Amino acid sequence: MYETADADPEAFWAAEAQRLDWIRPWDRVLDWDPPFARWFVGGRINASVNCLDRHAKGPRRNRAAIVWEGEPGDRRVLTYHDLWREVGRMGNALRGLGVRKGDRVTIYMPMIPELPAAMLACARIGAVHSVIFGGFSARAIRDRMEDAESRILVTADAGYRRGNVLPLKRIADEAVAGLDLVEHVVVYRRAGVDVAMSEGRDHWWHELAAAADSRCEPEPMEATDPLFILYTSGTTGAPKGIQHSTGGYLVGVAATTRLVFDLRDDDLYWCTADCGWVTGHSYIVYGPLANGASVFMYEGAPDWPAPDRWWRMVEDYGTTVLYTAPTAIRAFMRSGDEHPKKHDLSSLRLLGTVGEPINPEAWRWYHRTIGGGRCPIVDTWWQTETGMILITPLPGVTTTKPGSATRPFPGVAAEVVDDRGRPVPVNTGGYLVITKPWPAMLQTIFRDPERYKDVYWSKVPGKYFTGDGARVDEDAYFWLMGRIDDVINVAGHRIGTMEVESALVSHAAVAEAAVVGKPHPLKGQSLVAYVVLKAGGTQSEGLTKDLQKHVREVIGAIAVPDEVYITSKLPKTRSGKIMRRVIRALVSGQEIGDTTTLEDPGAVDEVRKWLAEVEGDPPR
Ligand code: PRX
Repeated sequence: MYETADADPEAFWAAEAQRLDWIRPWDRVLDWDPPFARWFVGGRINASVNCLDRHAKGPRRNRAAIVWEGEPGDRRVLTYHDLWREVGRMGNALRGLGVRKGDRVTIYMPMIPELPAAMLACARIGAVHSVIFGGFSARAIRDRMEDAESRILVTADAGYRRGNVLPLKRIADEAVAGLDLVEHVVVYRRAGVDVAMSEGRDHWWHELAAAADSRCEPEPMEATDPLFILYTSGTTGAPKGIQHSTGGYLVGVAATTRLVFDLRDDDLYWCTADCGWVTGHSYIVYGPLANGASVFMYEGAPDWPAPDRWWRMVEDYGTTVLYTAPTAIRAFMRSGDEHPKKHDLSSLRLLGTVGEPINPEAWRWYHRTIGGGRCPIVDTWWQTETGMILITPLPGVTTTKPGSATRPFPGVAAEVVDDRGRPVPVNTGGYLVITKPWPAMLQTIFRDPERYKDVYWSKVPGKYFTGDGARVDEDAYFWLMGRIDDVINVAGHRIGTMEVESALVSHAAVAEAAVVGKPHPLKGQSLVAYVVLKAGGTQSEGLTKDLQKHVREVIGAIAVPDEVYITSKLPKTRSGKIMRRVIRALVSGQEIGDTTTLEDPGAVDEVRKWLAEVEGDPPR
């Protein structure tokens, strides 16, 4: 497969595309007008038809599409036919609210089956969904809705997290208050808590569904029409709306799900991500459902009510494939072997990881304690932008090395290069770039093609710049070394340091801020903030807490710095740029490599002195 795909990638992807149901066949597999790729040009397809109708009409009709457990322990199973019906109803309901092809619909929901159903309902009628992770704040929802010019919001009354009721509707109300563009809010009743319903604007999901027909004519989409946008952090203050296509994206995620997870008919496949991240889009919803798989979904916290929650569920439901993040593995490892050992995990046959490099120790623990030494581990490297897994072992084919994502997927071409785009020698660090287009690649940044060109295609001309550092070893295996830009990976979530800085600066007391990442035993990295107060600002007891609370309100809990230091100045280059790279390296305890780009090599000493001063003070 590797050889065939290498020899003719377009033919390889065309063969994968043949496995899907097309309304009209494509004329050309790929139009490549760098850096814009158009896959399956002329082809028409509907993603929800591929994820639902073709299974609901065949022998998989009564097979479980989603097996779900809520945090309080409630259980539901939706067959392919059930899910098809619900999606059809919501498709019609959304059309009834005036949603048309190309309109953006924002989804802010807990991890309940209605979240994939809402996504697929959008796909059915050609609306472009923008899912926002349930941990984001009202302000973050508002910014994203404004950027997407989204008139519709789909949410729930509340969700459960660690025994608490998360008031999603209340947060949603705050997000859309005074936002004139918002016309309708659809509310699913999950927790049965009291919520304010605004007459004319707010609609109960169950009432809309009850009044709607389950047969919903699918919108014939051009393969190149957008399926969704998903906001992710970059190196500036504003998140980017990553825009994905319909046809190419679906081909990419369907093929990788089938091959990387070696899907079988008797699998119960569990990807532990939240649908609010790309992993949930590609490997809970579109990839597995396009393959007719049975997907397990869990609503709540991994350690609730006890640290064996996941393992109890693996045993209860007979999960066969488990795909999760290294940060979760490290947390379980720390909480002790006795929790997984209480349960029979012998149904598992394959394990996966995603989101950050996995340290060999955690890899071995996962292999031994969870996989019983029996299950291959697929360490999958990819990004929101790549849409699909790009570097990964194929189970049973690739000999794995703990800590390496191994090789590019068939048909994918990756390289590690230096500053000038030249491949670096074996075992030398450099920038990871992708040298050929792949079907699930982002189409652009929503309404900002210039930023798309600039961020991804200008650093190394002609090649997709991933923002990750990597090296390739003597066996041509890739070892990911983390981000080389101002993006930080905290517990497998991408946080832009500039985003956190601008949140801090929006606090009335703050003049300037610098945020860097620091190694953290569980989260991979944690955020450290250095803050300069405005003239006259006073360091009070509660200020640090107040700043943390402020970041939580502006972005969400995931972006709150663990440490906040108040300082009188920040170290800067002569041109006035904060020396973030030097601070980061010193905070991480790394040796400073190349300081040639610094205008002032003495800067390192200066920052070292500065850090000693700042951190010599107890955190306030
Ligand atoms: O740094 C890489 C890291 O996660 C980044 C992408 O983050 P996001 O767009 O949020 O998507 C996460 C889920 C795909 C990458 O730039 N990353 C992802 N997978 C791995 C990884 N780093 C090392 N090994 C991986 N397997």
